[in-house]
Amino acid sequence: MSSARTGVVVAIDGPSGSGKSSTSRGVATRLGLRYLDTGAMYRAMTWWMLQHGVPVDDAPAVAERCGEPVIETGTDPQNPTIAVDGTDVARAIRTAEVTCAVSPVSAVPQVRARLLGLQRAAIDGGGIVVEGRDIGSVVAPDADQKVYLTADATARAARRAAEEGGADLSATETSLLARDRIDSTRTASPLMMAEGAVHVDSTPYTLEEVVDLIVGLVEDAG
Ligand code: DC
Repeated sequence: MSSARTGVVVAIDGPSGSGKSSTSRGVATRLGLRYLDTGAMYRAMTWWMLQHGVPVDDAPAVAERCGEPVIETGTDPQNPTIAVDGTDVARAIRTAEVTCAVSPVSAVPQVRARLLGLQRAAIDGGGIVVEGRDIGSVVAPDADQKVYLTADATARAARRAAEEGGADLSATETSLLARDRIDSTRTASPLMMAEGAVHVDSTPYTLEEVVDLIVGLVEDAG
């Protein structure tokens, strides 16, 4: 990649389990870019709410406290880190308890506004691959390359169940579809394909093939 392209911003959006994290990290590593997992930030906010006994379905209560947690994210694609109030929460944010609570927390507009500020600060200067649900539409609408990554629900559930150490496949699919529904129908920044995004359906491809495809798109866009 030429030095003129080092400020590039790549936005990768899509539903849960579409392979966004592995793909985004792979693309960032191949292109020598930083990496930001915005889903981890929503999970970190949710973890903090649960730790502090804030009822996650009570939107005004969540809104009132969402300015408090200090959320710090590392941007090395080989070693993505996330800390809340100085505590490493990289594992804690992947528990079923957090996964079940994250959709209502991320539907609160004040939560989104707070995290949007942190995300834009991290993106500042570019040279980064950013994954989430609203990156191409809201967080970085001027991104140099936008990708909307999807996969069949069954393929997504199989990946997620494997990540979770062999969790029940049909329960995983049901929970993925429920989260998709909440994430796509909420009023504040719903999951959607951004204008100008390239739709990549990863179902028939290996991770390496999807990474190759997106690296090619970014290089061609330059
Ligand atoms: O990508 P993930 O499954 O770790 O994301 C966790 C949740 O965070 C997901 O259910 C929706 C929410 N999210 C969001 O609302 N906006 C983003 N940019 C990223 C994630």
